[in-house]
Amino acid sequence: MISRPFVLLTTLLFLLSNSLAFPNYADVLKRQEVEEAGSRTGRPFRPVDPPSPPRPPRFTGAKLVHDRAHPWKPLRDGDVRGPCPGMNTLASHGYISRDGVASPSEMVTAVQEGFNMENKFAIFVTYLNHLMNGNLVTDLLSIGGKTSKTGPDPPAPAHAGGLSVHGTFEGDAGMTRGDAFFGDNHSFNQTLFDKFVDFSNRFGDGFYNLTVAGELRFQRLQDSIATNPEFSFRNVRYFTAYGESVFLINFFVDGRKTDKKLDMDSARSFFKDMKFPPNFFRSPMPMSTEGLDDIFLMHPFLPGGNVDGKVNNFVVDPASATFETDCVLYEDILNTVKGLYPNPTGVLKRNLIKNLRFFYDGFSAAVSNECAEQFPYGQQ
Ligand code: HEM
Repeated sequence: MISRPFVLLTTLLFLLSNSLAFPNYADVLKRQEVEEAGSRTGRPFRPVDPPSPPRPPRFTGAKLVHDRAHPWKPLRDGDVRGPCPGMNTLASHGYISRDGVASPSEMVTAVQEGFNMENKFAIFVTYLNHLMNGNLVTDLLSIGGKTSKTGPDPPAPAHAGGLSVHGTFEGDAGMTRGDAFFGDNHSFNQTLFDKFVDFSNRFGDGFYNLTVAGELRFQRLQDSIATNPEFSFRNVRYFTAYGESVFLINFFVDGRKTDKKLDMDSARSFFKDMKFPPNFFRSPMPMSTEGLDDIFLMHPFLPGGNVDGKVNNFVVDPASATFETDCVLYEDILNTVKGLYPNPTGVLKRNLIKNLRFFYDGFSAAVSNECAEQFPYGQQ
């Protein structure tokens, strides 16, 4: 295993070299704007003053979302897709730009409109991803890997690498995506989907329901412990893995059904084809992580990871956030952001301050209102 002092030293050297290479990001950006006239509109990228996140829509009931205004279209060259079947589907139906690059406010509008995701929860998830993986100057985020369509690179160690970046939001023990250790953490994995179907047959009579969700979540953790020497399951990933396991029930089941069971054709449609099933209606009410407690309690599991680069060497991490310690999660997220942006200036700093505010707004309403807001870059 790489020693901690070594990591600290290399990080320090890395930051130093980059702070010299990027004395003033605003100036660099100006130069790059002229040099890289490669934005999605064909015009140079401009720094964007991010708008406030969207409010909840007026109508929040079930409705047809696989409609004429949002036809599914196959991928074109250069379109980006990633580890999230929800965002992939929204892009393939044009709820966000079909190229897979959008602003966080466009993404919030899309998840509300297409899936009826609850407003504050959508804000929490989206701005968390944007802070870690988005381009804060151009206000654009890729739903997959890194692309020049989000604009000029931010100063390292920030990367604007998109949702596929491992260890930010994307993490191990996904249901239909392999662990990053095995080389592909974002593509649909048929072998894992076969396992998903097998569990749905064994525990849900051919449907994915809460029982299947609890069993599969636990099994995927056991798989990673047994096969991935770098398995990590703590903080953000600990929360998101359980959340995603219930998203299928809360968002992928047709809103006209009341049984909360996902059939395998619909699952395949979302996961593999990135497509709403025919005549799909979104959920009849705004949803977030309802059901998470049920699946967690089926097999309670503490955060941690394999240590010393060995499989079957899982050790609980007492420093990680758990469902009882939400403010540790908030702290961890802020630490990640501070690590990515040690010394922001100009537009970048202004936008960081704004995005942190937006994020806290979602976090305090959707996760916990007991964690005092922090202002690592000051307040405007
Ligand atoms: C209602 C809308 C959404 C639905 C239905 C949804 C659904 C899902 C599901 C089911 C997974 C797990 C995939 C798997 O394990 O195979 C997932 C993963 C993911 N989602 Fe979403 N999602 C939604 C919104 C979002 C938003 C708004 C973002 C960020 C902007 C996001 C980012 C991600 C990422 C980064 C992953 C990968 C996590 C992993 O490693 O498993 N999702 N999503």
